[in-house]
Order: sequence, then structure tokens, then C-alpha cells
Amino acid sequence: MRKKIIAGNWKMNQTPKQAKELCTLLKDKVNTKEADVVFCVPFVDLYPVLEALQGTDIAVGAENMYFAESGAYTGEISAAMLKEMGVKYVIIGHSERREYFGETDETVNQKVKKALESGLLPILCCGETLAQRETGITIEWVRIQIKCGLFGISAEDAKKVTIAYEPIWAIGTGKTATSAQAQEVCAAIRQVLTELYGKDVAEEMRIQYGGSVNGKNAAELFAMPDIDGGLVGGASLKEEFADIVHYNK
Ligand code: PGA
Repeated sequence: MRKKIIAGNWKMNQTPKQAKELCTLLKDKVNTKEADVVFCVPFVDLYPVLEALQGTDIAVGAENMYFAESGAYTGEISAAMLKEMGVKYVIIGHSERREYFGETDETVNQKVKKALESGLLPILCCGETLAQRETGITIEWVRIQIKCGLFGISAEDAKKVTIAYEPIWAIGTGKTATSAQAQEVCAAIRQVLTELYGKDVAEEMRIQYGGSVNGKNAAELFAMPDIDGGLVGGASLKEEFADIVHYNK
């Protein structure tokens, strides 16, 4: 049985002071051993959040990193910097980074490799636009994103990767994919993972759904056989996140 992984993606929200306040509001409500709970937060919030969550089982993740070891990359943050702070997860290739900050399948792959080499657990994002869905190429598109993102990564390392399937048309729009739509793509992702790494590894890897997950729809989505939790944006900034974490209660 795969353990569910429910990650909040705070995006560009919460000043360090607000970050602490949000941790105070949420931590007892979402602290559980039943699922892996992760707060993925802006770089400047990492220290206050790590501190605020001490003594809980909630893990902390970054929302991005750079793939170089160190050097002249003004404004970037390395995997080693994150690891030393106590960060456990890192979101890689979120569609907003692909759209606004020029991330490509190639840079995403370099980042996944560097994260793994540095001992961070990547959350590798994929997902189609509305136009792609309407054209009927969703599965092909997502298969390519997964193959490129995981290119050159061993089966042993692949097990440490969480895949987040996030249809772009469902992000921040309130338009959730139906559980059947989400399951269809997550099953296709598990199929490509099987082709790459074999059934045993593919069965171990976790695939999240993301895109307008909320306290009401989480239970139905997470009950799907190939959906192992969620990557949650807007609702991770509210008490509602606790309803998502405890979706089965
Ligand atoms: P949303 O964001 O839950 O606000 O739709 C999800 C995400 O982008 O990770």
C-alpha cells in the first residue's frame, strides 16, 4: 500500500511572519502519521516554517531550486543549500514555472537529477493545457513530460520521486478534473513508469493529483486507485487544508 502524500504549495504567498502564523494555525490540525504531509513554501519562509514545525511529522519542501552545484547564478538557490537547512522535498517543473520562468523539460530533468543527487525528494509536475486536452493529446503530452523529466534516472532513484499530475486548466480556477479524468491520466502515468522501470517500481511510486483540490473533492479524488494524494495550492493556505489531510474521516 502506498502511503498518501498531501503537499501544500504556498506559491508566492505568506511573508515570513504570516508563514509562522499559518503554521501555528495548521500544525496540530494536519500533523498525522497516516499520510506524508508536506508544506512547500517560498525560500524566505523555509527557516521560520522549519522552526515552527519542529517536533511534528510535517515535512518542509521548497517550490524550486537550481541544478548547478554553486557559482555565478544570481538569485538562484542550490539543492545543497536546501538540504543543509533541513528541507526534505522540492517541487520541480510546476506549470507556473514552465509558463512564466522558461523552464523546459530539459532543465526540469537537470533539476530532478540534482535534487536526487543532493538527497532531496523531488515532486515532479506535469499536466496539459485546456487546448491540449481539447485536441485529445493529453496522455501523449504527459507521457513525454514524464519520460523527459525522468531521463537518465535509475529505478532506485525513481522510487524517491513523487509525480504531481496537474491539468493546467484546473489550477487555481476552481475547475477540478473529475475523479475519472484525473484517474485516467494518473493510470497512464503509472503505465509509462512501468515501461521505464518495471511494475514493482511503478507500483511503489506515488502520483498526486493537483488542481483545485479542496476539502470537499479530496475524498473522491484520493479514493482513485492511481491517485496517491494531492498537491494543493489555494486550499493549503486555509484551515480547509486539514479537511484535505483528513479526507477519509
Ligand atoms: P490550486 O493549485 O490548488 O490552487 O489549483 C494547485 C497547484 O498549482 O499546485
